[in-house]
Amino acid sequence: MACALVTGATGGIGSELCDILAGNGYDLVLVARNEEKLIALSKRLELAYGVEAPAFPADLSKPGIADLLFRAVIEEGIVVDILANNAGFGDQGAFLDSDWERQEKMIDLNIRALMRLSYLFGNDMRARGYGRILNMASVAAFTAGPYMPVYFASKAFVLSFSQALGEELRGSGVTVTALCPGTTATGFWDAAGMDATHVFSLMRAQSPRTVAELGYRALMAGKPVALHSPATHLANIAARLVPRRLSTWVCGRVLSKRG
Ligand SMILES: NC(=O)c1ccc[n+]([C@@H]2O[C@H](COP(=O)([O-])OP(=O)(O)OC[C@H]3O[C@@H](n4cnc5c(N)ncnc54)[C@H](OP(=O)(O)O)[C@@H]3O)[C@@H](O)[C@H]2O)c1
Repeated sequence: MACALVTGATGGIGSELCDILAGNGYDLVLVARNEEKLIALSKRLELAYGVEAPAFPADLSKPGIADLLFRAVIEEGIVVDILANNAGFGDQGAFLDSDWERQEKMIDLNIRALMRLSYLFGNDMRARGYGRILNMASVAAFTAGPYMPVYFASKAFVLSFSQALGEELRGSGVTVTALCPGTTATGFWDAAGMDATHVFSLMRAQSPRTVAELGYRALMAGKPVALHSPATHLANIAARLVPRRLSTWVCGRVLSKRG
């Protein structure tokens, strides 16, 4: 049976993606930090869909962990056909007042681990002549984001990197898809400390299920970029038409704390 590795498997979008993949007959490799949640998810998916879904607890923001994960998967004799680099987090607040270590961890998870897993599994996939990579970008990739500058920059990296890698792999049998969701109702917002910002009063949150479904369809079709929701399409068009200073200013108003 074909197998998909999903990072951030226990969270909103990742967990929905796992259900969709398992429902389509894929075995899974589940990755996130919280071992208890991972094991519960593994049991639920195996029971509900009759697939194999081993749990690989790992903090991907730590140095060398992506390599350890790759080796552990290979040693288990698992062949990964789909890699979903979904794990990521944000952090609301002015950069100079932020917790430096948290910004570094964000880079290590949102960028470094995604790059390293794409490199390791991507080489394996290319050698076999088949594979699909789904990298989680965001609507945040289209503009600069005052009060979440590192997060927005990390997602711009993911979008650019994924499009370039996909182009390099054209004709190899391996595709790369960057998924760009807009505001989605998951644990992301609490984790990023976004409750007191204007985001939710201005934008309607999408369900993680619809985002994961769009991601799955785009992944299977080998689409380079998948934009979710009319608001995301609008943001993409606006980012091309509106001067960057203006989009940065608007974004800063939306991402700042109320009051
Ligand atoms: N929600 C949105 O509005 C939105 C919009 C655009 C893009 N995105 C992107 O979508 C992706 C998924 O986010 P979500 O909204 O589903 O967030 P979420 O509900 O907070 O889920 C995040 C997942 O990542 C895992 N994770 C966090 N840190 C990790 C680490 N260091 N190592 C391994 N796993 C880690 C979490 O599990 P543990 O805590 O157990 O590790 C959890 O499974 C992220 O890349 C996010 O940037 C979200």
